[in-house]
Amino acid sequence: SDPALAELLNSRIRDVPDYPKPGVLFKDIAPLLADAEAFAALTQALADRAKALGATKVVGLEARGFVLAAPAAFAAGLGFVPIRKAGKLPGEVFGKSYDLEYGSATLEVQCDAFSPGERVLVVDDVLATGGTIAASLDLLRQAGAQLAGVVVLMELGFLPGRERLAGHLDGAPLETL
Ligand code: PRP
Repeated sequence: SDPALAELLNSRIRDVPDYPKPGVLFKDIAPLLADAEAFAALTQALADRAKALGATKVVGLEARGFVLAAPAAFAAGLGFVPIRKAGKLPGEVFGKSYDLEYGSATLEVQCDAFSPGERVLVVDDVLATGGTIAASLDLLRQAGAQLAGVVVLMELGFLPGRERLAGHLDGAPLETL
């Protein structure tokens, strides 16, 4: 971890109280994305991790994960693969449902997204309960991809997301910028 980078990124994340509902403190990354210096530093850090971990593809989780993962893939000279909410990807897909606070959601990835032996870095903005990333890691295993690692911009340390992911990582690192 890089304390100077963490400080820069933290300084560009805005806390919005009571959004999207009362009692929730929303972490708004819009100021970070709008700041050329901070966005470039974030993109470069993600690209550096992709290369250091030997990834051959960068996977982004809809929707904010796309905004971080796609430029990182470009900067690392790698391809990008989206994991999307149900019904958005054409052709054959693998799907995985997971529980939300109220109800459930399904994530999908295209069956032909990966060639044999590919190593993927998974990128998202926030690790909260871990449900989104856990489902994504199950999908990637189904699709035949090897996990190089997971990197998130931020982790809500008061939630047990990291513990929830422990059984899904196959020894790959889970890193927070
Ligand atoms: C948010 C966030 C993560 C996820 C984290 O996505 O971008 O993907 O929740 O929560 P979890 O660890 O409890 O699963 P959201 O579903 O709001 O989608 P968006 O990026 O499309 O706004």
